[in-house]
Amino acid sequence: MSRRRRIYEGKAKTLYEGPEPGTLIQFFKDDATAFNKKKHEIVDGKGVLNNRISEYIFTQLTRVGIPNHFIKRINMREQLIKEVEIIPVEVIVRNISAGTLSERLGIPEGEVLPRSIIEFCYKKDELNDPLVSEEHITAFGWASPQEIDDMMALAIRVNDFLSGLFLGVGIQLVDFKIELGRLWENDIMRIVVADEISPDSCRLWDIKTNEKMDKDRFRRDLGGLVDSYQEVARRLGIMNENDPKRGKGPVLVKSDKT
Ligand code: TYD
Repeated sequence: MSRRRRIYEGKAKTLYEGPEPGTLIQFFKDDATAFNKKKHEIVDGKGVLNNRISEYIFTQLTRVGIPNHFIKRINMREQLIKEVEIIPVEVIVRNISAGTLSERLGIPEGEVLPRSIIEFCYKKDELNDPLVSEEHITAFGWASPQEIDDMMALAIRVNDFLSGLFLGVGIQLVDFKIELGRLWENDIMRIVVADEISPDSCRLWDIKTNEKMDKDRFRRDLGGLVDSYQEVARRLGIMNENDPKRGKGPVLVKSDKT
């Protein structure tokens, strides 16, 4: 595994050269970081869970026709992906106020937003991934106006799909971040969803208890991160193959609100 050429070392993942041109291998590490790496710990088992959860979500995205970079999971920690040119802009979609939105605008955490809100952050660790507008993105040439439209349309589709997926298993999708990339196929370029979608990049709250089931458990020192990620995986029906109780597909969790 480690004899493959390393292309990029990220905070939670490493990218290696893939078996064929145009492919890469994405390796999920156990590193948990927050506040631009000021907080860093190794959380045993996180990488394995994120690999499985992200595999499940990307497979479902493919099923509903949302273009993405995922090809297949290779083993417990690795997946084969299509090589894309990552756009240096993170897209955040918010349904409920939390995190930096609450801090910036003084909106208490947990308020349902009047509508889903899209934000852009410039991917630049040295600058703490600052919030930017479409003006910045086009003026500095990070993406064209047409690409921004495509990115927003994809983000909304992912939000609609993921909100329903999680609601079906008793989890509220508060917000999430996606990364997008340019994929060339036969001289045609299209924007696709890349990177990962996991409890590291989403805020997920239990519908009944509002308990956090995401990386805020680490950011806010709440403990029990792996247990929460495991519970997300269990509810999505993707726990360990050896688990005799495991079902296929989402497990319905009844909400008191229905
Ligand atoms: P946000 O509240 O802006 O920042 P923070 O995570 O620092 O509180 O995050 C909104 C959502 O996007 C949240 O689910 C975490 C995710 N996110 C990332 O995964 N990576 C990032 O670099 C950023 C800025 C956000």
